[in-house]
Amino acid sequence: MKKTVKDYIRTIADFPHEGIMFRDVTTLFADARGFRMAVDQLLHPFAGQRIDKVVGLEARGFILGGAVAHQLATGFVPIRKKGKLPGAVISQAYKLEYGEAVMEIHDDALQPGEKVLIVDDLLATGGTCEAAIKLCERLGAEVVGCAFVVDLPELGGHRLLEQMGMNVHVLCE
Ligand code: PRP
Ligand code: ADE
Repeated sequence: MKKTVKDYIRTIADFPHEGIMFRDVTTLFADARGFRMAVDQLLHPFAGQRIDKVVGLEARGFILGGAVAHQLATGFVPIRKKGKLPGAVISQAYKLEYGEAVMEIHDDALQPGEKVLIVDDLLATGGTCEAAIKLCERLGAEVVGCAFVVDLPELGGHRLLEQMGMNVHVLCE
């Protein structure tokens, strides 16, 4: 039987804290067929739509988002953890499944009216993506979709983003 995207993802118990089942996509990225399949499936619903920029979320969203941007022939914009971007930034605090953090985007990375696709490896509580949406919208951009390889539906992120009116695309649960 042909492997699906999900078959390439492994689970590591108790990382980074006891009780967390960490869904590790490095095994997906390391496989040529798996990686290509994931990138193709992530962008599939958005191919043919106007997208000006792909926004990738640190860290694994950079790997996927860069490949998606290349395939869609768009620019790529990183949203990073606090203190990593060199230019002037705007910041947004958010809660994680296992802690709190602040995300930042360069204040000139998106132009008003630009259409943006957000890409990350995994959707859990949705806090990271919610912060990213707020950052994009504060710059005047329009988020046309959010694409993830893995959804952990029991953590509520999918519902949260849909309640915000977002078009959410996930490859597996
Ligand atoms: C993970 C994952 C998402 C986020 C999802 O990143 O890659 O970005 O958590 O969680 P949420 O939906 O509950 O916000 P992490 O914060 O572990 O950072 P890293 O990619 O830099 O390791
Ligand atoms: N980010 C938040 N929860 C996660 C999990 N269980 N596995 C991988 N990344 C995560």
